[in-house]
Amino acid sequence: MSDSAAPSPNNLDAFWMPFTANRQFKSNPRMLVSAKGMYYTNIEGQQILDGTAGLWCCNAGHAEPRIVEAVAKQIAELDYAPSFQMGHPKAFELAARVTSMFPAELDHMFFTNSGSESVDTALKIALAYHRARGEGTRTRLIGRERGYHGTGFGGISVGGIVANRRTFGTMLTGVDHLPHTHLPEKNAFSRGVPEYGAELADELERIVALHDASTIAAVIVEPIAGSTGVILPPKGYLERLRKICDKHGILLIFDEVITGFGRLGTPFATDFFGVKPDLVTLAKGLTSGTIPMGGVICSKEIYNAFMTGPDNMIELFHGYTYSGHPVAAAAGLATLDTYKEEGLFERANALAPYWEDAVHSLKGTRHVTDLRNLGLIGAIELESMPDKPTVRAVNAFKKCYEKGVMIRTTGDIIALSPPLIAEKNHVDQIFETIRSVLNEIE
Ligand SMILES: Cc1ncc(COP(=O)(O)O)c(C=O)c1O
Repeated sequence: MSDSAAPSPNNLDAFWMPFTANRQFKSNPRMLVSAKGMYYTNIEGQQILDGTAGLWCCNAGHAEPRIVEAVAKQIAELDYAPSFQMGHPKAFELAARVTSMFPAELDHMFFTNSGSESVDTALKIALAYHRARGEGTRTRLIGRERGYHGTGFGGISVGGIVANRRTFGTMLTGVDHLPHTHLPEKNAFSRGVPEYGAELADELERIVALHDASTIAAVIVEPIAGSTGVILPPKGYLERLRKICDKHGILLIFDEVITGFGRLGTPFATDFFGVKPDLVTLAKGLTSGTIPMGGVICSKEIYNAFMTGPDNMIELFHGYTYSGHPVAAAAGLATLDTYKEEGLFERANALAPYWEDAVHSLKGTRHVTDLRNLGLIGAIELESMPDKPTVRAVNAFKKCYEKGVMIRTTGDIIALSPPLIAEKNHVDQIFETIRSVLNEIE
């Protein structure tokens, strides 16, 4: 094509879509063109109920007027300002507001643009922190099987989803993994946090015995593993992990990219489980998905370890052109206002029991082998078709979309995470649609 030929809006070819079966999608696209509240509208004019808050991110619902207005105003007033040796007020305000939602010791925030960058940033801070304290031998990073920490090289190295790792070479060296905590033989159909499996945290002791604590910098886990299909921490598991990390001087990183900002009816999973990490990764709900932004929360102790030496020295050689971007910061502030003024975390908490009943009402439905829930998260595990893993869940996804409900699948698991503005009638529509679809599909 010559430079002067205008690209056709109907040509879908050029966009290499992420985590998508490109050829299949482009032969039968699902194109969303607008959104408001709980609903998308597709190009055919059909309303699609959002059962997944986009990709676990639109916690305040779509086109929330406060956020729309704040973004429009900000872009006109200050569209961009560097954060390297310069600043603008809203990034400082947002860092102060977000850290004030955490326990007092977690009082600093580094800005990124996504969950993946937050993860890489947290891992780098952990490594540099130990070095700053004279423990530079602590270079090993511990993740968990089935963990998802985004798609950067750091994230896939500590992550444990095979498909995301196997084609990308050797990744970071010096990484080990805890076992995952999915124990369907013991915990299937648990309501909320499952009973069995806290002892799986003790595997960290085995890893420490193997490598020696003096080589281990940090452990990173999702308090609730989301992208792998919702795996909940067994009762007491996170507490045990915290204890073992403390015993051996290992930093504990909670990846709260999906659990942050009200998903469990509390501000963060840290609050829900009452376990305090040293670093927290955030993104998604920080701006309710409107403008890309992420962040890493870290403790005073970690921050202070860097604030030594002459004060003309850059303390951490890390950052992004868009760290603390003014438009994202404005979106973040308006999002926090919305959460507060609309009481969205409290609303999520109030709706959670109804949600739990709705999830478990699918017990006995065709194909269903397990149901899991916590806060406004739900998972429906399906029996895989013989020799065709993932096909049944993908078929369910397509059928639900045709019937006007957006769900998300991973493997043969349906994962649900509606915006926190959801009402009972939305919950009913989501589960009635899924039930009818499961009864229809092979
Ligand atoms: C726990 C967790 N960490 C990191 C990420 C990566 O976030 P992003 O896609 O914004 O890079 C995700 C995305 O789903 C996630 O669920």
